[in-house]
Amino acid sequence: MEPSIDSSSRRNGEPAVHSLHRFVFSVPEIGAAVKFYTDFGLDVRRMGGRADLRTFGNAHRWGEVFQGHGPKRLEYISFGAYPQDYDQIIARLKAQGVELTSPHRLADKPGTWFVDPDGTLVELIVAPKVTPAEKRPAAASPPPPGMGAAPTRRAAGRVHPRRLSHILLFSSDVKRSVKFYSDTLGLRLSDYSGDAIAFLHAPHSSDHHLLAFVKSDGPGLHHSSWDVASIDEVGLGMQQMLDTGHPKGWGVGRHVLGSNYFRYVQDPWGSFAEYSYDIDFIPSTVDWQAKDHPPEDSFYVWGPEVPDDFITNHESAARRVAA
Ligand SMILES: [Fe+2]
Repeated sequence: MEPSIDSSSRRNGEPAVHSLHRFVFSVPEIGAAVKFYTDFGLDVRRMGGRADLRTFGNAHRWGEVFQGHGPKRLEYISFGAYPQDYDQIIARLKAQGVELTSPHRLADKPGTWFVDPDGTLVELIVAPKVTPAEKRPAAASPPPPGMGAAPTRRAAGRVHPRRLSHILLFSSDVKRSVKFYSDTLGLRLSDYSGDAIAFLHAPHSSDHHLLAFVKSDGPGLHHSSWDVASIDEVGLGMQQMLDTGHPKGWGVGRHVLGSNYFRYVQDPWGSFAEYSYDIDFIPSTVDWQAKDHPPEDSFYVWGPEVPDDFITNHESAARRVAA
């Protein structure tokens, strides 16, 4: 039986997706993906040539990694919609002249499929909302004066992210990508910086961004971002990855756009997984005003210098070699 769908945070009269339902990519060696995301703190379940990325205590499958036949590759992304909005979104796709296509060969449940302007396959399905309906409070308040606040190394434990927050994709034309996802799926622009980067939210209550684009020469997955319970967990996550052989990355720091504290950890294929805490939240009752921000604010308020290879699209590089 299909789960019932709670539509209490639905904004009336706004046919739009409510969630980033799933992201799916393939890698040259799936065992390396299982190790990386297990070390990262996810509940990774491998079945042959596929590994599901879940968070502990949550039944949702946020991501799937497949054993590929070449370099790492973004395969498809999937968005969830309320049943009341599904047909209207499809009508809007058709009105925009977007052709519907066959499901991805790796997809197990066919929804409605189409291709974005950069050639990335996109699925639209009716599904429960997995993007949060409200901002979750901080996990713990500090102890009263007279007590030590920091945990011991032993008591700190392992970091387990609570949920997927967003993905950042490479785009050959950021403005075109924003227009496409706004005009078809009803996503809204949150903030941007010229033609370089843009962040999109869902109008039925969501994080400041569940999808974002950064300028490149073609499509690809830059990072997936996972919500943790505190700034301490961002640092503990960094430590956990240092201790398990994943030293490269960026952070700890704090973004301006979205406001979240971050640590990016570089995966074996040159892209990243992000620990994120305290990202801005946009309730369905608020019309967020999108602004164009200067380049110096597009990345961070404070933190270490951005690594040279942070915005390298390794999927494009692989495509060039293959061509
Ligand atoms: Fe991020």
